[in-house]
Order: sequence, then structure tokens, then C-alpha cells
Amino acid sequence: MHKQKNSPIRVGIAGVGTVGTAVVNILNDASSAFRQQLDTPIEVSQVVVRNLETQRDCDLNGVTIGTDVMALSSAEDVDVVIELIGDVNISLSLVKQCLLNGKPVITANKALLALHGDELFALSKEKKLPILFEAAVGGGIPIIKVMRESLQGNRVDCIAGIINGTCNYLLTRMANEGAKYEDVLLDAQNLGYAEADPTFDVEGIDAAHKLSLLARLAFHQSIEFEKIQHFGLADVQIEDFIIAKKMGYAIKPMSVCKRTDDKIEGYVFPALVSNSLLLANVNGVTNAVQVCANRVGEINCVGPGAGGDATGSAVVADLVEVVYAMQEDSLPSVYFPDLGDSHNQAQMIAFEDTEHAYYFRFRVEDKPGMIKQFASVLEGLNISIEAINQDEPKEGEKVASIALITNKVQEKKIQKALKDILSLPGYVDEDWSLIRVFNRD
Ligand SMILES: NC(=O)c1ccc[n+]([C@@H]2O[C@H](COP(=O)([O-])OP(=O)(O)OC[C@H]3O[C@@H](n4cnc5c(N)ncnc54)[C@H](OP(=O)(O)O)[C@@H]3O)[C@@H](O)[C@H]2O)c1
Repeated sequence: MHKQKNSPIRVGIAGVGTVGTAVVNILNDASSAFRQQLDTPIEVSQVVVRNLETQRDCDLNGVTIGTDVMALSSAEDVDVVIELIGDVNISLSLVKQCLLNGKPVITANKALLALHGDELFALSKEKKLPILFEAAVGGGIPIIKVMRESLQGNRVDCIAGIINGTCNYLLTRMANEGAKYEDVLLDAQNLGYAEADPTFDVEGIDAAHKLSLLARLAFHQSIEFEKIQHFGLADVQIEDFIIAKKMGYAIKPMSVCKRTDDKIEGYVFPALVSNSLLLANVNGVTNAVQVCANRVGEINCVGPGAGGDATGSAVVADLVEVVYAMQEDSLPSVYFPDLGDSHNQAQMIAFEDTEHAYYFRFRVEDKPGMIKQFASVLEGLNISIEAINQDEPKEGEKVASIALITNKVQEKKIQKALKDILSLPGYVDEDWSLIRVFNRD
């Protein structure tokens, strides 16, 4: 699709909620700047919403407002479609039909691309029309552009990030205030940082969607979202934050994907992160993505991972890229995820075969020889203890809290050790924790 300079670029937006409203506002506020920069106006010609009665916090004067999502894909006055609905099935139909009808697409929908990326990117390549998705990972952080453009000539070895602001907010408040998980979750819901049904966020599903997209770009192959193991936050106890801090760590909601030779591993879990690392100091709703690549070394991108303006800013950046390409008649060269050589794809390894260092915390009867008993179980499995913290029993109590950090061992081995330790005589109650320690190597 070629657009002459001066001829307006007409945009159709599906969804005028948090992000869609911000996109309309950014486009309205910067309209004269865009007109000057691009020699052409960008006009929102149509929007689609579910409820026509809802008051919107943006000026939609002169814009056609409808409820038929699919109408955008065939509308004659729409050159580019921005999908900001969030639902997977409707969005899938819309994005496919837009590409089939010759319209480039911009979306913030990580679930859509994590679950249907193979099909959509193949169609996008076939039709020579881009699907851009800067807003789908890290909100306002321009990490997709970094992965797409700035690491050519590098082999990415590891991506590690804090890519769910809700989880980071919850863990930060628990760490700073000693507040209970249930209480901070309620606050997060009241403040609009967590959904009424927070499952997608707190169970790590949202982060796994985003991680699969980052990994696709990093490792140039399709990543099966289902093979990214994800763990929730609910098992992390206040005591763990206190002990981890004493041992030199923060606890962060980590998403990690690594490639070694012909294997890829990917997981989302709360993890101990050494206080010496930048990621340990990324707090609240802020997101961060660290990329380790063979030539450039380590880079870190930090910023707002959500919110209308931040996410809208990423959407608008994609839109401007598409507009330039339309003017240059170069849409086919904008961007298609390179999926590398199909005969040379690394396999995702099962989580039980991945290796981590582990933080173990138990409460045991305060009597001599308890640590020795645990140590001998670990020793029997060739697991060594790298650090240990023992807290004396509180006054009037007869149980002591022991926490240790192991060397790096296979997940299945640590699960065996856990089972053996929990059946030791002298183990006291159900109050124990097993948390993985983040290590990018
Ligand atoms: N919010 C963030 O900070 C953020 C950050 C990064 C990525 N994202 C992604 O951005 C996308 C949009 O998120 P959001 O927070 O803006 O969502 P939202 O506030 O819930 O807005 C969704 C919009 O889509 C409309 N919609 C939903 N289903 C529809 C249907 N069947 N037909 C027509 N319109 C429909 C809604 O209409 P009504 O208003 O009439 O209900 C609403 O305007 C999602 O994919 C999300 O994952 C959001």
C-alpha cells in the first residue's frame, strides 16, 4: 500500500479503553507535530467499542464509532488498524482479516501473539504486511525495537526480566512493608494495578506470554508458550523477604529464557536476585528487561511496563514507523520476525531438567544435629550448601528457622531432596519455602 505524502493516514482503532484512549489523546495532542514531521496528517477515522454509551476520556469528534470489530478490516476509510481489545478470539479474527484485506496491524495483545504468533506472523510475511507489537511487552519500554534492530550481529544467550508490573508491585510492598500477600493484592486491585480476577498476572501467565514473544525475537524461532513453566507468587512468605535480605538478595518476579547450544529453557517464577544486580532494585510497577548477548554483553532496559500513556506511546511509535513505510512504499521491509533455519531449531527442555540454585527455608525443632541431618540428605544427592542462615527460636518457641542456598542443581534433584527433607524426623510444620535463585548463566 503506497501513500503519497500529504494524503492523510487513516487509522481504525479497535478498543478505546485504557490504552486506546491514550492513543487517541496522543494522536490528537501531537497532530500538528506529526503533520510537520511526516508531511501528512494522521487521522483516527473509526473506532470500535463494546458499549456505545460509555463516556470516553478523549476527543472523538468526527470519528465514526461502531461496535462491529470486523468492520474495521474492510473499512474503506481505514489504512492501518490498531487492535487494543485484549480478547484473543475476536482479535485473532480481526488481525487475520486485516492482513487478508491489505491493512497493516499494530497490537498490544501479548496473549494473541503468544498463542497464535506462528499463524499470524506467517500470514503477515505472506501478505508482506507488518504486525507491529512494541506495546505487547514492557509497556512503554522500547524493548521490541531493541531486539529487532539493535542486536544484529549478536547471539543472544539470555533474556531475563521483570515484565509483570502487578507482580513486581505486590512483591515490592511485601518486602518493604512486611505486608501480607492477600492485603497488598486487595490494595493493588483498588489502585487499578491488578484486575478483579488477577489470575493471569499473579500466576505468571501474562509474563509467560511476554517471555515467549521476547524469546522468539532473541532466538529466531517459534517458542511454544505451553512449554514455559510458570509459578505464582502466593507461596512467598514475609519471612522469606527478611531472610533473603539478610543473605544479600531481593525476591523478584523473574521471567527468564536462555539458549545454550541446541537447547532453550524458559520459566517465570519468583526468584532470589542478588542485591548486586540492577534487577534487584527495580521496584513497584516498573518493568525491566536484561538481555545478555555475545558481542554487546549485558544491556538493561527499565521503565513503565503498563499504563495508558506509556503503552499508548509504544503503539504510536509503531504507527509512525508504519506511516513512514507507507509513504516510502516499503511496508514489506518493515519487519517480520525472522524464524531462522527451520532445520536448526533448538528444543525447549522440560523444566525438571533445568538447573538452578535454590533457597530452602524450614522450621525445625531447636536441638543439636538438625542442620547435620539436612546436610546429609543434600550431600547424599551431591547438593552442596553455599550459604546458610539460622535464626534462634523466638522467645517461648522451640522451633528454629533454617534457610540455606544450594549450589546449582537440576530441578528434579531438588524436588527429591525436598521430599526427603520433609520426611525427616524433627521437621516441624508446613511452613517451608523453596525459591529458585536467579542466575543468568
Ligand atoms: N492497560 C495497560 O496498561 C496495558 C499495557 C500493555 C498492554 N496492554 C494490552 O492492551 C490491550 C488493551 O488493554 P486495555 O487495558 O486498554 O483494555 P481495556 O481498558 O479493557 O479496553 C478494552 C477496549 O476494548 C473494547 N472491547 C472489548 N471487547 C470488545 C468487543 N467484543 N467489541 C468491541 N469492543 C470491545 C472495550 O469496549 P468498552 O470500553 O465499550 O467496554 C474497551 O474500549 C490488551 O491486549 C492489553 O493486554 C494493556
